[in-house]
Amino acid sequence: MKKMEKTNMQSQEIRTRFIEFFKKRGHAVIPSASLVPENDPSVLFNTAGMQPLVPYLLGEHHPMGKRLVDVQKCVRTGDLDDIGDNRHFSFFEMMGNWSLGDYFKNEAINWSYEFLTSKDEGLGLDSKRLYITIFQGDENAPFDQESKDIWMKAGIPENRIYALPAEDNWWSPGDNGPCGPCSEMFYDMSGDIGELTHEEFLNAVKKEDVIEIWNDVFMEYEKKDGKVIGKLSQKNVDTGAGLERITAVMQGKKTAYDTDMLADVIEKIKLQSKNYNENYARVITDHLRTALLLVSDGVMPSNKDRGYILRRLIRRAIVRSLKLQFSATLTEEILKLFIEKYKVIYPQVNSQKNIEIIISEIHKFRNTVEDGMKEFKKEIDPFVLATTYGFPIELTQELAKERGTTVDLEDYEKKMAEHQKLSQTASAGMFKGGLANHNPQTIRLHTAHHLLLSALQEVLGKSVKQRGSNITEERLRMDFSFDRKMTDEEKKKVEDIVNVNIAKGLNVVRREMPFVEAEKLGAEMEFGAKYPEIVSVYFIGSGNQEEPLPSPLLVNERGNSWVSIEFCGGPHITNTSEIGHFKIQKEEASSQGVRRIKAIIN
Ligand code: ALA
Repeated sequence: MKKMEKTNMQSQEIRTRFIEFFKKRGHAVIPSASLVPENDPSVLFNTAGMQPLVPYLLGEHHPMGKRLVDVQKCVRTGDLDDIGDNRHFSFFEMMGNWSLGDYFKNEAINWSYEFLTSKDEGLGLDSKRLYITIFQGDENAPFDQESKDIWMKAGIPENRIYALPAEDNWWSPGDNGPCGPCSEMFYDMSGDIGELTHEEFLNAVKKEDVIEIWNDVFMEYEKKDGKVIGKLSQKNVDTGAGLERITAVMQGKKTAYDTDMLADVIEKIKLQSKNYNENYARVITDHLRTALLLVSDGVMPSNKDRGYILRRLIRRAIVRSLKLQFSATLTEEILKLFIEKYKVIYPQVNSQKNIEIIISEIHKFRNTVEDGMKEFKKEIDPFVLATTYGFPIELTQELAKERGTTVDLEDYEKKMAEHQKLSQTASAGMFKGGLANHNPQTIRLHTAHHLLLSALQEVLGKSVKQRGSNITEERLRMDFSFDRKMTDEEKKKVEDIVNVNIAKGLNVVRREMPFVEAEKLGAEMEFGAKYPEIVSVYFIGSGNQEEPLPSPLLVNERGNSWVSIEFCGGPHITNTSEIGHFKIQKEEASSQGVRRIKAIIN
C-alpha cells in the first residue's frame, strides 16, 4: 500500500477555499445559523446544513438570493456511544453550496468535481481516487441517469460510479420536508485501491479505506409523514461536505482527531493523564467542544431537551476525565484551546462566561459522580449508571471488577437498545405523546391532570388510582377508582391543592428509566397498561434543579420532593406556573367503583 497522500492544508484554509470558490461562482456567503433552530420545534439542534434553510428550499424568497454558500455548525447526538471512533462527532461543521430554484445537477456536480480536484482553487485531490454513488431509482423517482452522464462527462469512468437504493442515496431531514436523490463522493484513503466491483466498493467503505466526503442532494421532492408526496415548486441543490472529514483527507489521516482541528487537544490530554486511554480522550475532546459551542449559542445545562443533552455531554466527559486522572485545571485549558480555535469564526464563543457555565456544572457533577462511584454497589444497574450518570459501560465493568462482581452485559445492551429506540422516537417527534392534539392549552391541561391525581390521593387516600383519561382543548376528564360521591368540601380541597401547586411554580421533568426503577419510586401507572422495559416518567416537584436527577439515590438522600411521579409519554409544560387557574366542573359516577371528574383551567 502506498503511503497516504499528505498535504499541509489546514482546516482554516479548506474553509476559506470552499467559501471563495463558490463566492466566485455567484454565491452569497451566509453565516452559520445558531445550533438552536429558530423556528423548528421538531428538532433540538440543527443536524444538517439544510435545516435552517428549509423555508427557502420550500420556496420562500431568501434575502441573499438563490445561490448561497455557508459553513453550518451541526450537532448530532443520536448515538453518543459511537463517538470516539474515527468518524462520529457530536459537533461538526458542514460546508455547503445551495441553489434555491436556480442551478441544478449539471453545475452542482461539475463544481463539486472542480473544487475537489483543482489545485489552484480547490483541494487538488487525485481524481483517480474518487468514487461516486448515484440513486438507483424506485417508485418515487427514476434511476439518476442524468447525474451519471454528468459525472462521466467530467471524467469519472463508469466503473467508479455505483447506483444505490434510497436507503443510501435519497436524502431527507426526517419524515417531513424537502428531500431528493443524492450523489455522494468518496475518496480512496489508501491511494492504490484502483478498480472496485460494487461489492468491493461497499466493503472498502465499511473498512474506511474509502470514505465519504461530500453529498450533493438534488432536492426537488417533498416528504410528508415518511412518504414522498410529490415534487416541490422548485428544484434545489443542497450539498454537504463535512469539514472534519475533508480535513482528515487533506492531512492524510484516518480521523479528524489527528488533524490540526483536534490533535493538540488529544495530545494535551495524553500528556496530563495518569491513566491514558485513547477512546476516552476522544470522547472528552468531542464532548467538551460540543458543550462549548452549545453554551455559546445560549444552551444552559438543565433537565430537559437541549439542556439535558448538554448536561449529559458534560457528565460523560467528566466521568472519563476522572478515570484518566488528569488535573482538574485541564478541562479549563481544553475549553480555552477551543475558544482560540473558534473565536474568529464564531465570536460568541469568546467569553469567560461560557467557561464558567461549564466549569460550574462540572463542579456540581463531580460531587454527584464521586458519590455515584462510592455508592456503586452490585445492585446498581449499569443502565442507570450509563443514562443517569453518564458512566461508560467499560467504566462500570472496571468498577465491578474492582469490587469482585461482574456486569450483566446482555441485560445492559438490551436496555440500551430499547432506550435508544425510545430517545429516537422522542427526538423525531418531541411532541408525540399520548395526547389527541398538541396545542398549548391541551398540554397545560395534561400537566394539570397529573396534579389532579396527586391531589385526589392526598385528599381521598393513596388507594385512588387513575382508570382512564381524556383531554381536549377545552377540558380534562379523569376516571379514578373511588367508591362514593365526593363531598363539596373534598372537591374544594382538591382544587386548592392543585392551585397551590400551580402557584408554587413546580418543575416538570421527564426521565427515561428502567420500568423497575420507576416502579420502585412509586410512579403512578395506568391500570392494566403494559409498559416496556424502559419507560418515560414525568416528575413534578421542587426537586433541586441543580442536582436534579430523580434517581433513587437523589430522591432519598438529598430530599428532593416530588408532588407527582407518573409513567407518561408527555408532552408537558415545563413549569406548573404556566397552567393558570384550575377548577373542577363536575364529579360524577362513571361505573361501579369508578368516579369521573371534568375540570378546566383558565
Ligand atoms: N443535507 C445533506 C447531508 O446532510 C447534504 O448530507
